Amino acid sequence: MGVGSEAAGPSGAGSGAGPASAGSVVAPAGAGGAAPAGDRSDELLRIEGLEVHFPIRRGALDVLPGRHRDVVRAVDGIDLTIRRGEVLGLVGESGSGKTTTGRVVVKLTAPTAGRVIFDGRDVTDLRDRAALRDYRQRVQVIFQDPYETLNPKQSIGDFVAEPLDVNGLASSPEDRRRRVLAALDAAGLRPAEDFARRYPHELSGGQRQRVVIAGVLVMGPELVVADEPVSMLDVSIRTELLRLMLDLRVERGLTYLFITHDLALAWVLADRIAVMYLGRIMEIGPAGQVIEDPHNPYTRALVSVSPTTTPPAAGERAQRTILVGETPDAAHIPTGCRFHPRCPLAFDRCRTEEPPLFDVGGGQAAACWLAEGGRSLPVLPPVPATTPPEAVPGA
Ligand SMILES: Nc1ncnc2c1ncn2[C@@H]1O[C@H](COP(=O)(O)OP(=O)(O)OP(=O)(O)O)[C@@H](O)[C@H]1O
Ligand code: SF4
Ligand SMILES: [Mg+2]
Repeated sequence: MGVGSEAAGPSGAGSGAGPASAGSVVAPAGAGGAAPAGDRSDELLRIEGLEVHFPIRRGALDVLPGRHRDVVRAVDGIDLTIRRGEVLGLVGESGSGKTTTGRVVVKLTAPTAGRVIFDGRDVTDLRDRAALRDYRQRVQVIFQDPYETLNPKQSIGDFVAEPLDVNGLASSPEDRRRRVLAALDAAGLRPAEDFARRYPHELSGGQRQRVVIAGVLVMGPELVVADEPVSMLDVSIRTELLRLMLDLRVERGLTYLFITHDLALAWVLADRIAVMYLGRIMEIGPAGQVIEDPHNPYTRALVSVSPTTTPPAAGERAQRTILVGETPDAAHIPTGCRFHPRCPLAFDRCRTEEPPLFDVGGGQAAACWLAEGGRSLPVLPPVPATTPPEAVPGA
């Protein structure tokens, strides 16, 4: 689990980040989990009822009108808010819809339904070129793989300058150069003049991701969607990169949607955590609370298999929740609670009715019938001593 295993621990929550934004959590009650109306002035981003369904093409005849087509429900009705200056960690297993959510926010994927509101303005159907340009300046993305983002034939200076050139933002060649060098310097690539002249093959993996960060900084964004930004990097340089991102948060007042499959990493970095499963938010709340007192069995299972810096005492065995059942498939979402085929606490109602997010207090909410009325989860029966590693998610 890379950085998570290095840095996570009971006291690690929110280190380097500001205080958890208790009270900022959308604590929706009721189907659909719509956020309550209230003071929205400190919200930077609001996602309402977001759905992204991809048609599955099985053959050429699928394009015929009236023909039924199956869909992958990558994102299946989520509501989220991010406050200014906040780090929201979006976590979940592979295929849960994290990247698709991030792509909608940066307008690389069009939603099937729902709204995206940025700084009080509905940007879902933004068409106007000037408005789009303004949005792309204020909302930037860092992807997992710097190798894919960089062009091997483009110098680092030209790569960082590209968004300025495309959007006509530099007032002169000197202004362009000044802004590029400042961005490289802020990303820790010093001396900036030297790095500006280099090409991607002359850099290490960590330096390449810093170049990507410089390309983001040059636009002066407010919101950064960071999609697994360190997962391709060597463990030894992940911490440096994460520290840089957190420093930039303070220095530049950045807000992050931080996407990761690593719950421990989200715990270290994020003020709040939203746990996704098959296109839905299963739990959301202040990071420490979600980890230490999960109210959804899925979150509890993820927590139980995440590394911690405190090993079990002599004679104790770590309590792990083994998730059984089929691997989740967004093209075949189970009825009722979508987690029920794998949930160790599932009961009859779970198979037929989908739970909404229930407010469980302190800005935390969980989509589980057992959380109705703010109740805590029952204790699970002890786990057998021999846990096959393949039965544990993320092991
Ligand atoms: N363009 C697309 N066309 C069809 N299906 C897609 C498309 N993009 C994503 N999907 C599907 O949507 C679901 C969610 O994918 P997504 O990439 O958002 O998951 P993720 O949580 O980011 O996973 P990972 O941790 O592996 O990156 C998956 O089932 C995926 O196969
Ligand atoms: S609603 Fe039922 S199946 Fe879903 S997480 Fe809760 S107990 Fe498990
Ligand atoms: Mg992804």
